[in-house]
Amino acid sequence: MGDLLAALASLRERLTEIPQADERRLQELKTELLGRKAGALTEILRALPALDADSRKAVGGAANALKRELEEAFDARERALKRAAAAPPPGGLDLTMPGRPQWPAGLHLITQVVDEICDVFRELGFTRAVGPEAETERYNFYALNFPTDHPALDAQDSFYLGGDVVLRTHTSPVQIRTLEAYPPPVRVVIPGRCYRRDPFDASHSPVFEQIEGLAVDEGITFVDLKATLAAFARRVFARDTTVRFRPSYFPFTEPSAEMDVQCQLCKGSGCPACKQSGWMEILGSGMVHPAVLENCGVDSEKYTGFAWGMGPERIAMLRHGIPDIRLFLESDVRFLAQFTGGGEAPR
Ligand code: DAH
Repeated sequence: MGDLLAALASLRERLTEIPQADERRLQELKTELLGRKAGALTEILRALPALDADSRKAVGGAANALKRELEEAFDARERALKRAAAAPPPGGLDLTMPGRPQWPAGLHLITQVVDEICDVFRELGFTRAVGPEAETERYNFYALNFPTDHPALDAQDSFYLGGDVVLRTHTSPVQIRTLEAYPPPVRVVIPGRCYRRDPFDASHSPVFEQIEGLAVDEGITFVDLKATLAAFARRVFARDTTVRFRPSYFPFTEPSAEMDVQCQLCKGSGCPACKQSGWMEILGSGMVHPAVLENCGVDSEKYTGFAWGMGPERIAMLRHGIPDIRLFLESDVRFLAQFTGGGEAPR
């Protein structure tokens, strides 16, 4: 019995090796001390049946207590090694971090609406055109028949970059650039960014998108304007949408008209969104002013045309019930991802 107790005492000294062991050494120690076949402690326990009752009790009690201690020490070391493996190495990459889910990118809602509107007009024979965002006063104003005292020419109302260069206040200058570059017949839609010194609130933004349209040919009349724009409204809004034209004024068109579509929410009966009118204003339009054609070297006796300008933000807001134009510019993926068709914002 004395031998066995001495053996247990020397085994107990091995406990100090466990907290220092690496993973491999830990497995070796486990086999050496607790292994079922030839573990040192197992050997001692195996000798118990040969002992008398008292010795068996003394040695068995001590052996079992040591077994528990060894097991606890092994568990503690295993946990510590696992924790160390999971912790990021100081200053390095943590390869145990879970991967980031893929976030498929999507087109901004306004880009989608612009593409869709341009597609509708492409089917009606219109090509897509673009022009610069920094314009001269001539393209942005004078060639479009603006009087020199028009308020838009004031630095209070427009962003001047210096001299006579201004951030375009509308896409209409691209009408001039198109007519200068291509002789009629011409049919173009012109999407692009525009800038005005407007407040940044729920319904205004100093940066916004427009889509311009221009058709110039022999024999174009107001009937073509109405039919083209009504067909567009029935494609982009409900199929049975009715439209109305109200007389208006723009320097570059004569006559000029605003087009309203039947309110898409109340179908014309009147609601808060349409201020009880049953109608929603969608675009400005008109027959191209003869002075504009002449400014571009187009014979206004031979050719006539119509033009329009509209705001895709407004169209997107009407269609989706979006209450605030600022949402389009704030880059909040929780808002934007609702329209990207499947792409979910990362958490
Ligand atoms: N350029 C006008 C604006 O920004 C919109 C517009 C109205 C464009 C009538 C046109 C048009 O081409 O015919 O308010």
